[in-house]
Amino acid sequence: MGKTVRAHANIALIKYWGKKDERLRLPLMSSLSMTLDRFYTDTKITESDLNHFYLNGIEQIGQSSQRVFTYLKFLQDKFGVSGNLAVRSTNHVPTAAGLASSSSAFAALAGAFCSHYGFEIEPKELSRLARMGSGSACRSVFGGFVLWQKGEDDTTSYAYALNEKPEMDLQLLAIELNPKPKKLSSTEGMKQATSSPFFKPWLQRNQTELDQMITAIQNNDFTALGQLAELNANEMHAINLTAQPGFTYFEPQTIAAINLVRHLRETGIECYYTIDAGPNVKVITRLKNVKEITNQFVSQFDNVKIVNASFGPGLSYLD
Ligand code: PMV
Repeated sequence: MGKTVRAHANIALIKYWGKKDERLRLPLMSSLSMTLDRFYTDTKITESDLNHFYLNGIEQIGQSSQRVFTYLKFLQDKFGVSGNLAVRSTNHVPTAAGLASSSSAFAALAGAFCSHYGFEIEPKELSRLARMGSGSACRSVFGGFVLWQKGEDDTTSYAYALNEKPEMDLQLLAIELNPKPKKLSSTEGMKQATSSPFFKPWLQRNQTELDQMITAIQNNDFTALGQLAELNANEMHAINLTAQPGFTYFEPQTIAAINLVRHLRETGIECYYTIDAGPNVKVITRLKNVKEITNQFVSQFDNVKIVNASFGPGLSYLD
């Protein structure tokens, strides 16, 4: 009997934004993330007469269920098993978070698949399987600070924990300013981004930025971590703007939030931002500043929703 598997979402501090191989989801760069305690997905798989996918108790039809079934079929073929499956997932990623849940969703799905069939595999192998569902999911197999080494091929592209239980005083405020769904999927965005004249120079900086981030983590250097995470996010979004044709995930509120973070910094409240494939902003800060930053965002934006997270664990098996 398979167990319910819990996987936490992660936020990239050094971004994955470009594929070398679409089918295998091999990235063009290595990335580094923080697993988040407040956001997770629980998934259980059982045998069934037909394939079913229930999310938060509601059966899903159409595109989202198709992606799940296609992925499960891929896993079944890989392991030489068959049969219809019922997938039951509960997403504890508050809609207010403005965070994509695909990282926790596919890590939990890969874990639940192996648990259902009784396959005992190494975390590294599980990370490779999760990668095939959604690139960022390979990092959610682990807790704390996680590095996804780009590798050369399917067997060498996986994530591992750099530090599962970091000491660093680090908080991530997920700030939802704009609840509209993103305009362009991350797959499409990544494809288009490679046409930027700055894409190649960015790739060439990947190893240096990664080394600098690892040093910041090892030295427990919050300032270096924040500065580098913000730079890396700005680079990703500059590449989108300069793609041919150019595009952006930014909305007017995104720029206003960037300006507020800069203003707070000027007034001595140390904080940095990172932004993914959407208009919402995540603020990186220390515990002592969470209250003040929250108050500032609430007073300056209408209908803003803020969820505060810190380090979360890797995959766990419930029941
Ligand atoms: O795993 P995907 O295909 O959802 O892509 C994730 C892309 C970013 O969130 C923008 C960056 C990252 O490394 O998580």
